[in-house]
Amino acid sequence: MAPIKGFLFDLDGVIVDTAKFHFKAWQKLAAELGIHFDEADNEKLKGVSRKESLEKILEWGHTSLDAERFEAMMAKKNDWYLDFVKEMSADEALPGAKDFLAASLALKLRVGLGSASKNAELILNLLQIHDSFECIIDGTKITRSKPDPQVFSMGAEFLGIEPQSIVVFEDSQAGIEAARAGGFRSVGIGDPKILADAEIVISGLHQFSPTEIINKLNF
Ligand code: BG6
Ligand code: MG
Repeated sequence: MAPIKGFLFDLDGVIVDTAKFHFKAWQKLAAELGIHFDEADNEKLKGVSRKESLEKILEWGHTSLDAERFEAMMAKKNDWYLDFVKEMSADEALPGAKDFLAASLALKLRVGLGSASKNAELILNLLQIHDSFECIIDGTKITRSKPDPQVFSMGAEFLGIEPQSIVVFEDSQAGIEAARAGGFRSVGIGDPKILADAEIVISGLHQFSPTEIINKLNF
């Protein structure tokens, strides 16, 4: 097995609990459009870009919007989302996330971010962890959404490491699919039933140290 040299982290739902804000904002928007939207629907939007998320919601509601209204709805959702984010403080990283990042860097592992979000830089700055990441591949840099592996492949290219030597940490089905499609090692964060395709699933970054994760993957 190739030695593990780097970690690529998803942001929403892995480093910070913003997944719940995305859910609330999409739910509010779906209600305004008269479309049913529940937690199971939301699971399918995790890791998916803002534009593709709205396309899916409209498809589920068997409806469509003209280009102008589509843009307006995306902006509205993002404004609501950012209202929640603005209330966040620097200590709202998920349990163990900041320590895990620090421990990874102390082990001289290469660390990058692979997120579909266009708000990633803003959130990393709010949490004061921007400098923990050697590369930040986010929604402003990619052209294809997870489950396409592009976001992680760009990270691997930046770090100059082969995918099989990089572990992807993901809370979404689309993200685990992307990691696997790109040839990366994968750690799911959340429910093992939902993330059944991940090599291992943990409840959060507080559960194990980076060394323990590497040992588990090498076992
Ligand atoms: C992902 C989230 O990280 O980013 C998705 O899991 C979200 O729910 C996507 O739609 C895009 O985020 P943003 O912040 O650009 O709307
Ligand atoms: Mg996520």
